[in-house]
Amino acid sequence: MMHSCIIIGATPRSPRSGLPPTPRSIPRRIPNEFYPTPPEATRALLSVERFDGSIWEPACGEGAIANVLVDAGHKVVATDLVEYGFGISGIDFLKELRPRAKHIVTNPPYGSGLADAFAEKALGFAAETGGSVAMLLNMASLSHRRRTAWWKAKPPARLYAIDDIVCWPSHRYGPAPEYFTKHRYIWAVWTPNHRGPSAFWWLSGAEFRAAQSSHNNNKKRRIT
Ligand SMILES: C[S@@+](CC[C@H](N)C(=O)[O-])C[C@H]1O[C@@H](n2cnc3c(N)ncnc32)[C@H](O)[C@@H]1O
Repeated sequence: MMHSCIIIGATPRSPRSGLPPTPRSIPRRIPNEFYPTPPEATRALLSVERFDGSIWEPACGEGAIANVLVDAGHKVVATDLVEYGFGISGIDFLKELRPRAKHIVTNPPYGSGLADAFAEKALGFAAETGGSVAMLLNMASLSHRRRTAWWKAKPPARLYAIDDIVCWPSHRYGPAPEYFTKHRYIWAVWTPNHRGPSAFWWLSGAEFRAAQSSHNNNKKRRIT
């Protein structure tokens, strides 16, 4: 199938020509907050949400979300601050001045208030484009004394608890440490003109894990 996409490079290549890299010792925080999203999380999102136009993944990493969106037939612009051999690198989302696509779908960096800044920035762009914003966030951020007022002022249209996923770069660092597997995630989805309470629903990671992506990690995708 020919996908309609704007970017998309190859995922990073191992220096040992195709072999997975040897797991390194695990730092307290992974550099650049690189915690990739397992594909089933995005498949689950697409089972319940529709995006009627181009999508910007502004913290694309190695393309874990972008690839699933492209496989589903979406036109995707993928950017990241850091070079991962995928998408357009060197783009600080927080310094961007104009939206690059109608909708924004991402798993942003979380540390040092970055997820809050990403959400604020994305909602600003969505107000310009009339698009939606979907962000994979830490479930604990929903119940946090410094965020309650913000959530009430900008309630997502829908919140989805997604079970049984781990956003961890195991191809770089080996299996996730036990403390990390305890993290729980939600998709928060903001739609244009939503007011009032957020609807809440549940998604099963396992239900979407079996589905095979047609994406070939080593395949280059051309600008079309
Ligand atoms: C949690 S990872 C998620 C990667 C990808 N969205 C995914 O789901 O697999 C966060 C990503 O944010 C990127 N990042 C951190 N700060 C950024 C910034 N200011 N602008 C754009 N990307 C940034 C990191 O390089 C990293 O790839």
